[in-house]
Amino acid sequence: MIANPLPVRPANFSRRIDAAETSAVREILKVTEKPEIISFAGGLPAPEFFPKAEMAEAFSRAILEDGEKALQYSTTEGYAPLRNWIATRMQAKGMRAEADNILITSGSQQGLDLLAKVLVNTGDKILVERPTYLAALQTFSLFEANFITVASDDEGMDVDDAARQLRQNPDIKLIYLVANFQNPSGTTLSLERRQRLMALASQYGVRILEDDPYGELRYRGETIAPIKSLDEEGLVVYISTFSKTITPGLRVAWLVAEPTIYTKLSIAKQATDLHTNTVSQFAVHRYLTEHDADAHITKLCGVYGERCRVMLEALEAHFPAGVRWTKPEGGMFLWVELPAHLNTTKMLPDAINAKVAFVPGAPFFAPSLASVRPQNFMRLNFSNQTPERIALGIQKLAEVIAKNEQQ
Ligand SMILES: Cc1ncc(COP(=O)(O)O)c(C=O)c1O
Repeated sequence: MIANPLPVRPANFSRRIDAAETSAVREILKVTEKPEIISFAGGLPAPEFFPKAEMAEAFSRAILEDGEKALQYSTTEGYAPLRNWIATRMQAKGMRAEADNILITSGSQQGLDLLAKVLVNTGDKILVERPTYLAALQTFSLFEANFITVASDDEGMDVDDAARQLRQNPDIKLIYLVANFQNPSGTTLSLERRQRLMALASQYGVRILEDDPYGELRYRGETIAPIKSLDEEGLVVYISTFSKTITPGLRVAWLVAEPTIYTKLSIAKQATDLHTNTVSQFAVHRYLTEHDADAHITKLCGVYGERCRVMLEALEAHFPAGVRWTKPEGGMFLWVELPAHLNTTKMLPDAINAKVAFVPGAPFFAPSLASVRPQNFMRLNFSNQTPERIALGIQKLAEVIAKNEQQ
């Protein structure tokens, strides 16, 4: 017990934060950090493959050799050599991006926040997939956006539905999507759909936020050009991150944007945190230029691809008939649909008793007047458990589902 706890103040918070949804699930999921629980819940990379020795060397050299700059305040836009490196990488993906179009951010989560700050007024409409990335919904909600949701299938966002929504809501301000190995669904938008979506954005003059943290983590199939590479008018803001390819603790990410919105985003960033952690930026740049970062990504693709395969095999072997799941070609997640009468939020305590965890699907559906949140989905992460634990965990989860089926 704390001897002299802080007094509790009556609430007088902003409307924004008072309207933010609190998550009961988050409380339940705290227990999943216990080692005896096989957790498919988090969105964590495999820590045993973090390039620890290489990063130790990169940080040490950044401090010892560049310390007077690396430990100093720096520019809002980010460390110039890192921006150059990223620009070259983006050009290789077909984007017309120079270093001046690259803004280094504190995680790509900050990119979402900055774009919302710059674009969204109370009540503005944002078009999102059903389901979509939970923390993007949280960010946009804090700016009091209204969500227009569009259906998605095994090829990602249903572009016919997006066209319908844009026709009915020509004032939509932003289209947000994760085109590669989506979080939570693991699906990837086909090239044809990317082209059609870009054409729609152009027709309605609406911006696209292309969130691509997983694009480099492809285990099967052919790479598909980013939507940003199809962008002739500067309508797309592309964001990505080193969180999944190096480590998330660095909090180094970037966005690519045309000059007008770039200036606004830089002002918003300056007001938010002045600049991204300087020493992390120097260390990331050293890591990228002095070590074989591509070989590391290839290794991760081998490891995660195998974990994904093992999970798919275990699902096939153990999950009851009537359950469907996506078959990702990359990324870290797959998405499971149970029969409509089952409720994954209610099932979670049973799963935790059985020492296995997942994230219930409901919070990945935007609050929207036009649609109710389905309760029969779950997201499974496959990057953070060994193949042996994945096989065992899926078996346990199958038993939990079977038990709930009988109730
Ligand atoms: C779709 C998506 N966007 C953005 C992020 C944020 O990543 P970070 O802030 O670590 O770059 C994540 C993290 O899981 C994500 O899944």
